[in-house]
Amino acid sequence: MLQVWFVFVLGFLFSANIQAEEIGIYELQRGDLSATFTNYGATMLSLILPDKNGKLDDIVLGYDTIEEYMNDTTYFGAIVGRVANRIAGAQFTFNGTHYNLDANEGSNMLHGGSKGFGEVIWSVQSYQEDSHVSFTYNSFDGEEGFPGNLSVIVTYMLIDSNKLGVRMEAKALDKATPVNLALHTYWNLAGHNRGDILSHEIQILADSITPVDEALIPTGQIKPVNGTPYDFLAPRTIGSMLDQLPDGYDINYVLQNNSLGRLQKAVQVHECVSGRTMELWTTKPGLQFYTSNQLVEEKGKDGSVYRKYAGIALETQGFPDSVNHPNFPSQMVMPGESYQHVMVYRFTTKKNN
Ligand SMILES: *[C@@H]1O[C@H](CO)[C@@H](O)[C@H](O)[C@H]1NC(C)=O
Ligand SMILES: *[C@@H]1O[C@H](CO)[C@@H](O)[C@H](O)[C@H]1NC(C)=O
Ligand SMILES: *[C@@H]1O[C@H](CO)[C@@H](O)[C@H](O)[C@H]1NC(C)=O
Ligand SMILES: *[C@@H]1O[C@H](CO)[C@@H](O)[C@H](O)[C@H]1NC(C)=O
Repeated sequence: MLQVWFVFVLGFLFSANIQAEEIGIYELQRGDLSATFTNYGATMLSLILPDKNGKLDDIVLGYDTIEEYMNDTTYFGAIVGRVANRIAGAQFTFNGTHYNLDANEGSNMLHGGSKGFGEVIWSVQSYQEDSHVSFTYNSFDGEEGFPGNLSVIVTYMLIDSNKLGVRMEAKALDKATPVNLALHTYWNLAGHNRGDILSHEIQILADSITPVDEALIPTGQIKPVNGTPYDFLAPRTIGSMLDQLPDGYDINYVLQNNSLGRLQKAVQVHECVSGRTMELWTTKPGLQFYTSNQLVEEKGKDGSVYRKYAGIALETQGFPDSVNHPNFPSQMVMPGESYQHVMVYRFTTKKNN
C-alpha cells in the first residue's frame, strides 16, 4: 500500500486553503443533530441524534481512524462512483466505442473499481459548521477505464434541525460518460453497535425490483414484488420473511413514480426501542437495499464488532449495470451536461403507540 501522509484537522480549528492531500474531519451541527464527514472518499463518518428519552447515539457504522477507512472493503459511509453498483464484465459499449473498466469483483466492476470515488482524496470547497460541507473531485479521462474528464461536487447540508440533505453533481467536461453516484452509509437506528437490524420496521415505496443472477448482476427483467419477500409496500420488520431469503437483501428496487426526477419519498425505517424514524427522499429511480449480508466480524468504532445484519444500506441511485441494459434508465451524461442527485434524510423520534 502507498504511504500516504495525512493530517487530521478538526473542522472548527480550520480556516481556508486546504491542501488537496490533507485529510480532515468536518463536523456539522444544529440543535441535537450532529454529523461528521471526511474528504477521504467524501465519506459520512457519524450521525448522532437523541432517542425518545433524549439519549444520544451514533447511528452510522464506521471506524475510529481514517487508516481503517483507507483499508476497508465495506464502503462504510463513502460516496461511491464514477458508477456505483456492478457493471457486468467490467465493460460497456457506447456509440460504437468499447470501454474496458477495472474489474475489482471477479470479472465485474463494483462501485467504480479498485480506486473509485470512495477511495480518493477530495478537496474541500467550502465548509460552515452550522450549514454545510462541500467536497470536489476532478476525475480524469480514463480513470478506472471511464471516458472523459468529470468534475464532481458533493455537498452535505443541514436543513432545519432534523434533516440532512446530500446533493451530488457531476459535469462531463469532454466526453460522454456514465455517472451513477451513491452514498454507502450503513444505518442502525438503535445505535451503530446495537446488534442486528432485523427488528427495524421498513417501508419501501417500490412495487418492483430488478432481479439478479448469482453474481448479483441484473438479468434485465423488472419484476413485481407482490407475493414475494421483497414486498415492503406495507411496513413490516426486515427479519419477518428472511426464512425465505437466508442470504439477506441485496437488491435494487424500482421506485414508484420515478421517471420525472422529482424529489420523492423512497423509504421509511422505524426502530421501536429508540423511537427513531428515518425517511429518505431521492430524485433517483432506484434504491439498492442491502442488509450488510457480507459483514463478518468487522472491527468498528469504539471496540464494536459488526456482523451480518449489523446495518442497512439504502443506496438511492440509478439501476445497476444500466450501461449494459438499454431498457433501464440511461446513466450517460453528454459532454457539457451535468448529472444531479439529491437525497434528503428526515429524522423524527416518537414514543411507541
Ligand atoms: C488492513 O487490512 C488487513 C487485511 O484485512 C489487516 O490485516 C490490517 O490489520 C488492516 N490495517 C489497518 C490499519 O486496519
Ligand atoms: C457518436 O459518434 C459520432 C461519430 O464519432 C459523433 O459524431 C457523435 O457526436 C457521437 N455521439 C455521442 C452522443 O457521443
Ligand atoms: C482531460 O483534461 C486534461 C487536463 O486538462 C486534458 O489534457 C485532456 O485532453 C482532457 N481529456 C479530454 C478527452 O479532453
Ligand atoms: C405514486 O403515485 C400514486 C398515484 O398518483 C400515489 O398514490 C403514490 O402515493 C405515489 N407514490 C409515491 C412514492 O410518491
